[in-house]
Amino acid sequence: MTSASVNISFSGPTLPSTGTLVIGVLEGRKLTATGADLDKKTGGMLSRAMEASRFKGKKEELLSILAPARLENERIVLLGLGDPKKLDEAQAERLGGATLAHLNSAGSKSAAVMIDELEGPAVPSAGMAANFAFGALLRSYRFDKYRTKESAEKKPSLKTLKLLVAKPPEARKAYAPLAGVAAGVFMTRDLVSEPANVIYPETLAKEARTLSELGVEVEVLGVKEMKKLGMNAFLGVGQGSAHEPRFVVMQWRGAARGKKAGHAPIAFIGKGVTFDTGGISIKPSAGMEDMKWDMGGAGVVIGLMKALASRKAKVDVVGLVGLVENMPSGTAQRPGDIVTSMSGQTIEVLNTDAEGRLVLADVLWYCQDRFKPEVMVDLATLTGAIIISLGEEHAGLFSNSDELAEKLTAAGKAVDELVWRMPLSDAYDKLIDTDAADVKNIGNRSAGSITAAQFLQRFVNKVSWAHLDIAGTTWSKKDKPTVPKGGTAFGVRLLDRYLADNWEA
Ligand code: BES
Ligand code: MN
Ligand code: ZN
Repeated sequence: MTSASVNISFSGPTLPSTGTLVIGVLEGRKLTATGADLDKKTGGMLSRAMEASRFKGKKEELLSILAPARLENERIVLLGLGDPKKLDEAQAERLGGATLAHLNSAGSKSAAVMIDELEGPAVPSAGMAANFAFGALLRSYRFDKYRTKESAEKKPSLKTLKLLVAKPPEARKAYAPLAGVAAGVFMTRDLVSEPANVIYPETLAKEARTLSELGVEVEVLGVKEMKKLGMNAFLGVGQGSAHEPRFVVMQWRGAARGKKAGHAPIAFIGKGVTFDTGGISIKPSAGMEDMKWDMGGAGVVIGLMKALASRKAKVDVVGLVGLVENMPSGTAQRPGDIVTSMSGQTIEVLNTDAEGRLVLADVLWYCQDRFKPEVMVDLATLTGAIIISLGEEHAGLFSNSDELAEKLTAAGKAVDELVWRMPLSDAYDKLIDTDAADVKNIGNRSAGSITAAQFLQRFVNKVSWAHLDIAGTTWSKKDKPTVPKGGTAFGVRLLDRYLADNWEA
């Protein structure tokens, strides 16, 4: 699979005499100490360049000065830092991402970023450097393995990025776990970007298996085992496909051992529909190619396990993904079919395109039954309706626990992966009652994301649970500072942060 091509390192605060120099400027065109020095050395070139442009030093503003007089460097890039009091870790990441994109489009091959000591930010400069580097790394992701004819000039130019900082060892130490998280994010982005002729249940399970090299225990269940468990809701979705379903259970045991104390695992569950045609309730052909990323929830859970193992997280986590392809065929499930789920509840399948919830019904039930988790969070590209409600800016959050909802919301804010809580109630729950069985898999046309969540809740039992509908946030059509367009891996960072803040402290 692909990986980042830029080499990131940390060294002391000495400016190199070649390549690009990136120099910070505070709001109001106020040069940092290094900037003021360089301005003097170049006979006021930086001040004149700022005055000749609209550059004010606002956050993420960038201004290139080519072939600066009296220096051998190829260019100086002025980077707006904005208000230093608002310069926190997340802002440092955005600065790093924006700078990386600028350097790549400018054609710079190597660059050194001076992280000056500033008055105002709460984060020390070593942390600033680490987060800047993290943001740059996240933005450098590119899924280009199938582009065999792209010329070298069109590929990203930047090969090395050096962070110049007073205490490089401290910056390296802060960066190491972040690089682990990025490895997880990249794995998720790779998995959602791969087409469905490459990633189907069997091959996705194989990708999950590679995590065993990092110490994750991986079990893969096939059709026979799932039949034995009674997972007929899940199996029904896959019965029309030539690719058999797989159910993957991953465990990372990182919590301190020895004492009897400790907690039950935290569980994450992902919808892994490797392609969603809609089945017999077939989707219109326009845009159907997007349904290759209908395994986004599973991709996040697999990438999260990689992130946790890479940074050796001190927490016990289980990750479960239901992998299946939803196809129409002579063996496919029909509208009106009634299946008996693992929980014993019967489901009337009125629309074969409402398939994600059928998969999750059995995986949620299995999870609480086997692991008795402390908390259970599922992620799914579940409904088009959540895109109508929240667009690309927030994922939908549904939960039976106010505390869990608040913690997930806070973690999302901290890493720029925003969620917005939606309601659950008995009145909505009634909308999925049916005469023919215990529950039906669609409501009427209204409140589509909520009735989907109500359906899931019927398979949750008594556990603290949250559901993230990531249909609008899994794929982005535009570049964002730390997220290039394409697969976003939305959820990996949020859940990593949720664990770090609440279960590892
Ligand atoms: N995978 C889709 C939801 C989706 C739509 C994800 C667009 C990403 C982008 C899901 O399986 C689905 O088809 N949902 C239906 C449910 C309906 C039949 C009740 C939908 O949203 O239309
Ligand atoms: Mn569907
Ligand atoms: Zn789907």
